[in-house]
Amino acid sequence: MTENNEAIEKAKEHFGEIVKEQLERVEVMKSWQDWIDYKELDPIIIGVVGGDGIGPMICEHAKNVLEFLLKDEVEKGRIEFRVIEGLTIENRAKVVKAIPDDVLEEIKKCHVILKGPTTTPKTGDPWPNIESANVSMRRELDLFACVRPVKVPEKGIDWMFFRENTEGAYVLGSKGVDVTDDLAIDFKVITTQGSDRIIRLAFDYAKKNNINRVTVVTKANVVKTTDGKFLQVAEKVAKDYPEVEWDDWFIDIMAAKLIDPARASQFRVVVMPNLYGDILTDEAAQIQGGVGTAGSANIGKRYAMFEAIHGTAPRMVEEGRSQYADPSSMIKCGAMLLNHIGYNEESKRLDMALEICSQYERKIKLTGRSDGATGEEYAQYIMDRVKDPDLENKWQKYQE
Ligand code: IPM
Ligand code: MG
Repeated sequence: MTENNEAIEKAKEHFGEIVKEQLERVEVMKSWQDWIDYKELDPIIIGVVGGDGIGPMICEHAKNVLEFLLKDEVEKGRIEFRVIEGLTIENRAKVVKAIPDDVLEEIKKCHVILKGPTTTPKTGDPWPNIESANVSMRRELDLFACVRPVKVPEKGIDWMFFRENTEGAYVLGSKGVDVTDDLAIDFKVITTQGSDRIIRLAFDYAKKNNINRVTVVTKANVVKTTDGKFLQVAEKVAKDYPEVEWDDWFIDIMAAKLIDPARASQFRVVVMPNLYGDILTDEAAQIQGGVGTAGSANIGKRYAMFEAIHGTAPRMVEEGRSQYADPSSMIKCGAMLLNHIGYNEESKRLDMALEICSQYERKIKLTGRSDGATGEEYAQYIMDRVKDPDLENKWQKYQE
């Protein structure tokens, strides 16, 4: 009994700390500054963080494509690329930190980050069970919006997912408690401010792009307190956008309806808490052709980070096949990055080239093995299409 009492006291103390931290985070969110204006920056610094496994290789290909598109801007000194080394699992394991301090310091000196995949250790791995570098970076840079587009033109699918990126089941994912050997408790956190800012971003996006529908996804019928709050905030925010219709779905049936041909194309903008967004965006990416085809923008008011949503492909590395890894998702991230910092024309060209290469023309194919193209050849293929003065006309023709 006294043993239990001790465990309870320890758990209470742990919980107290967490509540204190989270209340402080709410205060920071309340006082948070305005959005950064890239037009006022000279230069805009793009940090390139390779990560683990196939990451450095596919990041290099994406960087080359961006450098090509921004050649004039780099020459004029308006854009600077900075390669940041050190966000590797070996380094992170050595200092037992999700992001080593010196690496984080370098990252914070940039304005936008292009990031390759990083190993996320779990129990049983040869690495210490440190927090995911992605999750840590999203929190450290307050990248509250994870924006993931998915398009399948032949099925009429044009989805834009807004995943809350700093709260939910993730914010305290490494801070659960083993109260006793038999009792483990994790925490999920949803705040009014955290929900408001992501839901508002989704509605803003819908309004700006003349999209008449926002879908809010929760499990508020079961997870009543936190998901309940998310839904209540959505109801409130929606009132500020009378021109945008909205509906709410539970995550289970939403996952089913994404593969229902009668429904799928009706969804357009989807906003949801962190873990549901993690799962649903992988499902959506698979519908598009696999997680290797999807890009992801992590956006905050001060920083933004663009990353592939797939993993580090350790098997490819072990088998010596890294050079055949598909760089499409990183290049797609590059297009999102360009759009985010105001190079909309360049971004559009890159998107068109990507679409032509992967969906229509398909002159070069990647198989992940030596019977297919290398990532470098594929990146070159995309670059050749970007260069094509007739690109837009060709793309238009494919749309007909
Ligand atoms: C993603 C990934 C990450 C996440 C992992 C690697 C921690 O799955 O970006 O979706 O769960 O957010
Ligand atoms: Mg995921």
